Amino acid sequence: MLEVRNLNAFYGESHILHGIDLDLAAGESIALLGRNGAGKSTCLKSLLNADPRTEGSIRFAETPLGAQPAFARSRMGMALVPEDRRIFPMLTVAQNIEMGAFAARDGRKPYTLDEVVDLLPMVGPLLSRLGFQLSGGQQQMVAIARGLIARPRLLMLDEPAEGLAPVIVDELADTINAIRKAEGRSLIVTEQNIDFARETTDRLYLLDVGSVVFSGSWGDFDRNGDLVDRYLVL
Ligand SMILES: Nc1ncnc2c1ncn2[C@@H]1O[C@H](COP(=O)(O)OP(=O)(O)OP(=O)(O)O)[C@@H](O)[C@H]1O
Ligand SMILES: [Mg+2]
Repeated sequence: MLEVRNLNAFYGESHILHGIDLDLAAGESIALLGRNGAGKSTCLKSLLNADPRTEGSIRFAETPLGAQPAFARSRMGMALVPEDRRIFPMLTVAQNIEMGAFAARDGRKPYTLDEVVDLLPMVGPLLSRLGFQLSGGQQQMVAIARGLIARPRLLMLDEPAEGLAPVIVDELADTINAIRKAEGRSLIVTEQNIDFARETTDRLYLLDVGSVVFSGSWGDFDRNGDLVDRYLVL
């Protein structure tokens, strides 16, 4: 459902991603791992055409992507939950989540708020709170709900576990595993937290300085014992 070939990304004169190849089947979940500055966020933003300038080929849902801007890619079924979550502080949780419905894809209805609460039960009790009243973990759940309401085929989560307490991280992993089972949705999760990534994905790509330095199953990753020391420990 996603096929990326020779993706290069640039911020101004800076060449950030170097020839990334990536494949993702419908219903599959992959992790993008890498240390600070490896290019994880740039990669997700490039798929959505959100910020960096890109070269290379991306096929999504059988369609070659060209110059489609981010909103058009959202309508085709991509959703990105950004690292900084971007919850509107003066809107209620319900309003924050409903903002995401504008990205519903062509010809397919968004979820209703009730359906989103069925998929993410922990946002149910929060619906009338204001954005600024949420804890970090609650903000993350709301940001995921906002991405999910458009019924995306591909949900991209940028470091969802960052800054959250361990007990919340466990809850978040369960949540993500529940929503990936719904409707054969595909997932890309970027992380520096290996345990969280392992729990929520089928296999992984490891990035370093904008290039893929390893891709394979978690079993293959574990058998290459030096990968963590070389590419993940700071
Ligand atoms: N808006 C921007 N303008 C210029 N350079 C940028 C911009 N955003 C990111 N970069 C650079 O691109 C490189 C990759 O950054 P990116 O944010 O993709 O890394 P990351 O793997 O997501 O890191 P982190 O784990 O810190 O989120 C870094 O060298 C960063 O300084
Ligand atoms: Mg990042």
